[in-house]
Amino acid sequence: MITKPKGTYDVLPDEVKAWTKLESIIRRICQIYNYKEIRTPIFESSRVFHRDASDTSDMVTKETYDFLDRSNRQITLRPEGTAGVVRAFIENKLYAQSPMQKLFYLGQMFRYERPQKGRNRQFNQFGVEALGSADPLIDAEVIALGTTLIKGLGLKNVKVKINSIGDKESREAYKKACVAYFSQYKDELCGDCLTRLEKNPLRILDCKVDRHKEFFLKAPKIKDYLNESSLSHFETVLKALDEMKIVYEIEDNLVRGLDYYSHTVFELEVDIPEFGAQNVIGAGGRYDTLVSDMEGPDIPGVGMAFGMERLLLAAEFANKSLGKPDYLHVYFIALGEAAKKACLTQMNICRLGGLYCDMDYLSRGLKAQFKTADQNHAMFTCILGDNELEEFKINIKNNETEEQETISIYDVYPYVLNKINAKSACAGCKEKEVKE
Ligand code: HAM
Repeated sequence: MITKPKGTYDVLPDEVKAWTKLESIIRRICQIYNYKEIRTPIFESSRVFHRDASDTSDMVTKETYDFLDRSNRQITLRPEGTAGVVRAFIENKLYAQSPMQKLFYLGQMFRYERPQKGRNRQFNQFGVEALGSADPLIDAEVIALGTTLIKGLGLKNVKVKINSIGDKESREAYKKACVAYFSQYKDELCGDCLTRLEKNPLRILDCKVDRHKEFFLKAPKIKDYLNESSLSHFETVLKALDEMKIVYEIEDNLVRGLDYYSHTVFELEVDIPEFGAQNVIGAGGRYDTLVSDMEGPDIPGVGMAFGMERLLLAAEFANKSLGKPDYLHVYFIALGEAAKKACLTQMNICRLGGLYCDMDYLSRGLKAQFKTADQNHAMFTCILGDNELEEFKINIKNNETEEQETISIYDVYPYVLNKINAKSACAGCKEKEVKE
């Protein structure tokens, strides 16, 4: 049997509803916050992601899917959305259209990671990128958008963890302090951290292996190295979050796994034991030099991305079912070949009128066809046998009320339409009554 590649999964028909519902909630929230959709390629020139030899992030050094295409071009499947969006922003000169671009994207990302629950090799992200402003208030807006999504999905116990890694000057001062401090513990650092000590000491703080060692806990904190403007940026973000009643925790050691950040960095964490280490459902931060590092103008940006699989899993754990099951307006049950043809004709009329319909093409017995009508959540079932057909009649059953009537075979469409309209008008009356 040919099977799917490790770390990938199929979204089966029963599961697709939850995905489309999640996508529609996301689209609505992006409209509320005025972020416009952008779609960029799933593969990019490798240079988009492998920009800098000093980049020590796991994602860039260990996890990208890189290959040569048939013309020997270096290609990488996108491991995240930000760099591709920034490439498109520069290439299409979006900054010339408007000084502020607020963009969002949904799509597959690829990382060669060890698969487990909530961690896949092909996964989906929803991300936003606000390009053009260095204002700390836009950092707060991005976080607010994230928390609105959390609320929209009915998720509870989600923590916003936040930190500032300051501007370049602050980070340089902090890096020196880190090198001096961690150099004393070279024997105890893991292999990755020894490399980080040389290339990017800040990322030692992100180490999953060394994090709990005693010397690690006493390491210098970046907050003590922030210069005045970095401190003021961070304080303004926090104040804006306070104003919007967004609860957060300052996490001194939060530096994030990607190398392009400056100033604000944050993560949204769910408190679900089954999630284990995969409890970060969304994360982001400010990236003031990424556009210029990618040969664009000097334009700052800030953004965040959610793992959509993790959002769906979290909704499942919170018992928030996303998306009602599909339903049919009418399921046609035909007994005999002539009846089948007559059903097809009537079903076609109903479908042209926009009703959701189906019928049996397997010439099965009555019981099996009723079962399929049930599985499809059919509102009405039409049953046609040879006797009814001779009289141009058809039996129609309302599956909610269990009422059954015999009507003219030509009246199926207007009959069902009337009943549906009456039902929705009735629902409208009840809603009105409640409001009044
Ligand atoms: P990231 O932290 O690498 O940030 O990924 C964002 C989110 O994607 C994670 O919090 C997680 O929920 C999800 N995620 C990451 N890897 C996987 C995986 N292997 N399987 C399932 N879900 C995963 C970024 O990607 C940045 N581009 C975020 C950003 C946008 N920063 C600024 N703008």
